Amino acid sequence: MLSHDFLRFNAVALATVLVGAVTQAECFNFSYPIFKPQKGDDLTFFGDSYMASDTIQLTQNVLNNGGCGRVFYTRPLKLWSTGRGTLPFNSTFVINITPLTYPGGEGLAFILTGHADIPANSVGKWLGIISENTMGSSTRGAVAVEFDTRNSYPEDLDDNHVGLDLNSIYSRKQESLSVNLSSGIDIKVKVQYDGQGLSIFVGENRSVPVIFESLNLYDYLPQKVYVGFSASTGVYAQINYVKSWEFSGLELYDDAPNLLWVWITVPGAIGLVIGFSAFLYWKWQRKTKDHVEEEDDPGWFELQIQGSSTAPRKFKLKELEAATENFNSDNLLGRGGFGTVYKGVLVNREVAVKRFSRNSHEGKRDFIAEITTISNLHHRNLVKLLGWCHERDELLLVYEFMPNKSLDMLIFCNQNHGVETNPVTLNWERRHAVIYGVAQALDYLHNGCEKRVLHRDIKASNVMLDSEFNARLGDFGLARTINPSDQTHHSTKAIAGTPGYMAPESFLIGRATVQTDVYAFGVLVLEVVCGRKPGRQSMQNNYNSSIVDWVWENYRGGSILDVVDLQLNGVFSKEQAECVLVLALASCHPNPFQRPSMRTALRVLAGEVAPPVIPMDRPAFVWPPAMPPSLNEDLEDYPFSGDQNTPSSQLIGR
Ligand SMILES: *[C@@H]1O[C@H](CO)[C@@H](O)[C@H](O)[C@H]1NC(C)=O
Ligand SMILES: *[C@@H]1O[C@H](CO)[C@@H](O)[C@H](O)[C@H]1NC(C)=O
Ligand SMILES: *[C@@H]1O[C@H](CO)[C@@H](O)[C@H](O)[C@H]1NC(C)=O
Ligand SMILES: *[C@@H]1O[C@H](CO)[C@@H](O)[C@H](O)[C@H]1NC(C)=O
Repeated sequence: MLSHDFLRFNAVALATVLVGAVTQAECFNFSYPIFKPQKGDDLTFFGDSYMASDTIQLTQNVLNNGGCGRVFYTRPLKLWSTGRGTLPFNSTFVINITPLTYPGGEGLAFILTGHADIPANSVGKWLGIISENTMGSSTRGAVAVEFDTRNSYPEDLDDNHVGLDLNSIYSRKQESLSVNLSSGIDIKVKVQYDGQGLSIFVGENRSVPVIFESLNLYDYLPQKVYVGFSASTGVYAQINYVKSWEFSGLELYDDAPNLLWVWITVPGAIGLVIGFSAFLYWKWQRKTKDHVEEEDDPGWFELQIQGSSTAPRKFKLKELEAATENFNSDNLLGRGGFGTVYKGVLVNREVAVKRFSRNSHEGKRDFIAEITTISNLHHRNLVKLLGWCHERDELLLVYEFMPNKSLDMLIFCNQNHGVETNPVTLNWERRHAVIYGVAQALDYLHNGCEKRVLHRDIKASNVMLDSEFNARLGDFGLARTINPSDQTHHSTKAIAGTPGYMAPESFLIGRATVQTDVYAFGVLVLEVVCGRKPGRQSMQNNYNSSIVDWVWENYRGGSILDVVDLQLNGVFSKEQAECVLVLALASCHPNPFQRPSMRTALRVLAGEVAPPVIPMDRPAFVWPPAMPPSLNEDLEDYPFSGDQNTPSSQLIGR
């Protein structure tokens, strides 16, 4: 394992050898593929900003008439030196903005500044960069690349532009963007400075910058600058996420080149370089010898698997290559955002091998999440993880094989591909049993296991069917464990999940809760009963074409049983179907407080209690939601009850 210091030391030595006679420079690099608390030690948070799981959130998720936050890499960068110009850097990051009001506001910026503290009165249109009092008053103040989502000055181009701000909020240059900054999607940005000019790239296209400006940062910034992000809200508010950040640059670390020092260190440095190369060669040899690459990602230390015989084990890549005939496409079972799933045969046992896409940070993160969450879970309605493999660049998970594929294939097979399956394959009893099985699995995740787990991606294609058509919930790529100490906020990562299954509040609170899982469960139930896909649902409260709306319409019209899948030819228990449908609608209630817990849902499905009472008309989505009038048995499952009054305060100031 190479330590960071060791690398830096060698970089200094190398830089000394290469540029030693001219000046001394050191690499100033860091990389956050995701943001984790333990890595966050070298970030400093100001104002409203905080570390949400895996991301940085620069402002609060609530409407409070204006707030501001900044996050900086703790160590300042020595950017220039008199007479020697300014050193180059590249900063690549992913931002994600979701409006909390319509329209949202105000904006987010990548910023370099000598003063880390938030300037007074810099909320709202000032983006936390500068304030009226400080604007233009200091020759070396702040340089920012703003992503402005509000047209707040006559000087602003529009409400969706990128601008280069040099010690002023009026951009030196600004350009309207074709991508919608406020649409809640990940937007990749690269800010490249080569010592003479600054280029801003937005999106994947790196051939032409959106903005290029010739400038020497020496004219605008002090010698030592903090690099980071700032954002602010006003009456208009939005969620301002930074999801990843990579910075590579050089830094001057000694003003006066000391020739004597160079003469002494150069031979030493050459020695070091030779030593380092020998070390690398040794490491490379060792690696090629057994083809095993251990991962030193911190996530691996979270792997706590009991050493019992049923516990997942580590597989050799060779074993899995043989099992799947070298990932032969004939053995392909499915494909998803994460990668591909192959069928394999291991010593007469059939398995499903999930192969994550290469070189994807998300892939690695999901892989780790999946292993860490699922390996400690044991329930007959969960797909069992048999093991994993991480060798060379391959990330593989091995599961027991499910001969009856996934639920969506069974429900929609007939409609898509003629008459491949017998319609009675999924008769009413089976459908009811599948729903009951999924409810049991979810109740186990929410209430039954040691640490509460949110699945976050409940949908028909993630429910597998075993040889007896028992439902087995799978795909824990997005699942997250909640530590008992975190019980109150249940925050996981940024918005994730599958459109159509996502509760309307997901887009506002930007995280998963027990209730967003219940919502997805409700959609899944409707899908199974109606044999119909969930339909689209957009960022706004516009979910009119969704299955939830359609079923609720029928409920209001007194014809709820009309929605039941026609393929059943009317062969189903009317009483049971009505009960299940009403439960599903209650689970999809726009107010998360009104949704039942999985425990209650299970009792309804078992016929122990009546389904929750729901209004005839689908209630409108209102945020913040009305609190339930009385505290009932499910209250412990309402994470917002604490959150609302003290929004994320536990997370501030790390
Ligand atoms: C910045 O990126 C460009 C293009 O990828 C590269 O040529 C340059 O060397 C990089 N500069 C630094 C300081 O990393
Ligand atoms: C951008 O997306 C937001 C949120 O979805 C929406 O309110 C806004 O109208 C969109 N702007 C444009 C120009 O499409
Ligand atoms: C990038 O954008 C420029 C200008 O819009 C265009 O000419 C070029 O074809 C694009 N390149 C790619 C790879 O999309
Ligand atoms: C810093 O980043 C640059 C560009 O990505 C890379 O060439 C260089 O090797 C890195 N240095 C260290 C010490 O990681």
